[in-house]
Amino acid sequence: MPVVNRIADMQDEVTAWRRDFHENPELLYDVQRTAGVVADKLRAFGCDEVVEGIGQTGVVGVIKGRSNGSGKVVGMRADMDALPIDEATGLPWASRVPGKMHACGHDGHTAMLLGAAKYLSETRNFDGTAVVIFQPAEEGGGGGRAMCEDGMMERFGIGEVYGMHNMPGIPVGAFAIRHGPMMASADLFSIRIEGVGGHAARPHQCIDTTLVGAQIVTALQSVVARNVDPIHSAVVSVTSFRTGTDAFNVIPQTVELKGTVRTLDPDVRASVEKNFRRVVESTAVAYGAKVEVEYRHNYPVTVNHAAQTDFAAGIAAQVAGEDRVDLGVAPLLGAEDFSFMLNERPGAFIFLGNGDTAAVHHPAYDFNDEAIAFGCSYWARLAETAMPAS
Ligand code: NI
Repeated sequence: MPVVNRIADMQDEVTAWRRDFHENPELLYDVQRTAGVVADKLRAFGCDEVVEGIGQTGVVGVIKGRSNGSGKVVGMRADMDALPIDEATGLPWASRVPGKMHACGHDGHTAMLLGAAKYLSETRNFDGTAVVIFQPAEEGGGGGRAMCEDGMMERFGIGEVYGMHNMPGIPVGAFAIRHGPMMASADLFSIRIEGVGGHAARPHQCIDTTLVGAQIVTALQSVVARNVDPIHSAVVSVTSFRTGTDAFNVIPQTVELKGTVRTLDPDVRASVEKNFRRVVESTAVAYGAKVEVEYRHNYPVTVNHAAQTDFAAGIAAQVAGEDRVDLGVAPLLGAEDFSFMLNERPGAFIFLGNGDTAAVHHPAYDFNDEAIAFGCSYWARLAETAMPAS
């Protein structure tokens, strides 16, 4: 069974919504316009309940099936936020907001879930309750965590939850998923090194924080190379190195380093943190400097649950065909805050092919509208198959 005919007929309408979101990108929790459009449409579709302001600016729509909502409750989630990037596509629907751009396709995710909500509200060909979840602040702000902390799962009685992300490099009309870890944990660190500043010509009277910082950057690479089992994956990336001076002849009093740690396993995550702290602190001590480490646990590993992964792959196969579903895609070391929802309820996260486009987070990226019918149909069939009408 290919894409849903009624959804194929909605292609132009959903594309128009997608391009409207694309022209009007908003960042993190400041998605008031997008959330307002989403809530207005959900009400216009006839959703039984539309709740705004969950997780600050998140929106939830409730669609009851034929038996008026008895039975299962299935959550389906899209993200609404854009990125602080200047768009370089030159497309007619390019961002109208300087410095903001839908460079991760969340405009497409939102439009596709809206399309499915419209279809499900019209047809109600299921026996249970479909809950459509539109979250803010996926791009580093933890909007998924905020919605969970607001009690979303309990309030709407959600039993299972599903997520989707478009993926450049996977053909349009194809899907990819895997059991277990799908996306990485993302922790953030800041390191403040304090030495003794002074004249660059008198290093013996100083404790050179630039040298200490450089040694720490180098030594940190031993954590992945020498402390992590080579069968496992981990990344330690120092992304910022700031001395307190811009001069040619000053040894800076302080240096600040920042970066991120990625892993695909909670045990590896804990072990990397422990070794990270040891390397940073003991390297600073070796050079006589003081160091403060701020190590923030941000997104957890996105772990797909076994039964729901098989179910999701089956739905994708219904929509795209068996040979267009990759059930063994390699995990990514990018992170995803749908992980917070998967930590609360069983579910699965799937990739939807975006074709041969620029990568996500690139200024030339654009969501591929040809993928809309596949993404919308996936959501519609997921609800109808998870909660079959009696
Ligand atoms: Ni994204």
